[in-house]
Amino acid sequence: MTLFPSTVHAVLHESILGRAAAKGIIEINCIQIRDFTENKQCQVDDYPYGGGWGCVMMAQPLKKCLDHVLSSAEGLTSRVIYLSPQGAPFTQETAKRLNRDYDHLVLVCGHYEGVDERFIESCVDEELSLGDFVLTGGEIAAMAVTDAVCRLVPGVLSDEECYTEESHWDGLLEYPQYTRPEEWEGLHVPEVLLNGDHAKISHWRRKQQLIRTKAKRPDMFEKADLSSPTDQQLLREIARDAARLPLTEPLSCRPAAMDDLPVILSMVSDARSVLARRHIDQWQGPYPTAEDFLPDIERGECFLILHGEEPAGVFCLSHAPQQEYAALTDGKWLSPDAPYCTLHRVALSAKYRGSGISSFLLRQAEQQARSSGFPAIRTDTHRKNKAMRALILSEGYSFRGNVLVSSEPGHDPHRQAFEKLL
Ligand SMILES: C[S@@+](CC[C@H](N)C(=O)[O-])C[C@H]1O[C@@H](n2cnc3c(N)ncnc32)[C@H](O)[C@@H]1O
Repeated sequence: MTLFPSTVHAVLHESILGRAAAKGIIEINCIQIRDFTENKQCQVDDYPYGGGWGCVMMAQPLKKCLDHVLSSAEGLTSRVIYLSPQGAPFTQETAKRLNRDYDHLVLVCGHYEGVDERFIESCVDEELSLGDFVLTGGEIAAMAVTDAVCRLVPGVLSDEECYTEESHWDGLLEYPQYTRPEEWEGLHVPEVLLNGDHAKISHWRRKQQLIRTKAKRPDMFEKADLSSPTDQQLLREIARDAARLPLTEPLSCRPAAMDDLPVILSMVSDARSVLARRHIDQWQGPYPTAEDFLPDIERGECFLILHGEEPAGVFCLSHAPQQEYAALTDGKWLSPDAPYCTLHRVALSAKYRGSGISSFLLRQAEQQARSSGFPAIRTDTHRKNKAMRALILSEGYSFRGNVLVSSEPGHDPHRQAFEKLL
């Protein structure tokens, strides 16, 4: 019920709702209140008793209009709603309730200074507000309610998932969405969304929902039910992430130079201490030394990861096949005969442990391998190095089998081998 039916009709008969109405799934009628006046001037409003600014909509045309609307909806469960800044805030929960409990909604749009209170008292079932602000009329609010309710009517959207995964459905905001192209103005779509691993994608999406609801709507986050084991696990992950060193500078990757050797060896020493603390018998002898890095640097196969200008990590990417990989046991390579390069001698500076920089490092290694024309990248890690194994797997590598390395005589030579096709 409105003084501007053609405007409202035009908006509500566009796009998705328009198509649903054309198919008969929903029916939206916009009724002119003025058609129900009983005075010659078709006047719908008058001055307020007691004085004051503006005019108030009269009860008579509103009541007559409402009677007409209700008489055409006999047998339906109707609800008369007055859109008002004094109403209860309209939410997704309200939309769900209205869709569930009624099959006919009458939305009354006020204008001017509002409507005669006696109409509200005697005819209105509930008042709804679009928010704590004042509009010139109820039309925008009525259109918002209509849109939010109608899209929940079965058949209006193609699938229930269209709305159950969206913001506000379960008290959280939706995860970020991306579409083509994969790179836009130097900005990339998160890697996890590109690999088709649906379990990982839903893990990432749920985590993003929690992160962004907490950041954008702490009030909603406080009230959300996050008691499921999955959400509890994600909350622990988020807390761990928050305790990390914030990466405030851009990350980059460049080939290492001879001058970088001291900082590279200091990163190796940091990594050695971490491995010792975790009782992992890797890098516990002299390997890797400056002599191991020098040829890599000379061949342009050693790279530094920088946080701003500061070296944060190092890796080497051997182009030559690894003898030990030929003797893989308990599995087989994905591309046994194709050329591959090998990622090894990965180390982070102590300051950057747990900063999330290691994922960036792995992606840079892939990038370098790809740009050198390799169709696959391989790596190995000590069988007890669970953190490295988890990182490698999370970046899309798959476990291929076991190898024995000879670079650290006198230490545990068992390594798990991984491969990723590029
Ligand atoms: C200018 S407003 C009247 C406001 C009224 N005098 C008051 O202060 O409560 C005119 C009409 O706009 C609609 N309206 C204004 N703000 C609204 C809101 N936040 N939500 C829903 N409807 C609103 C109502 O239908 C109202 O009758």
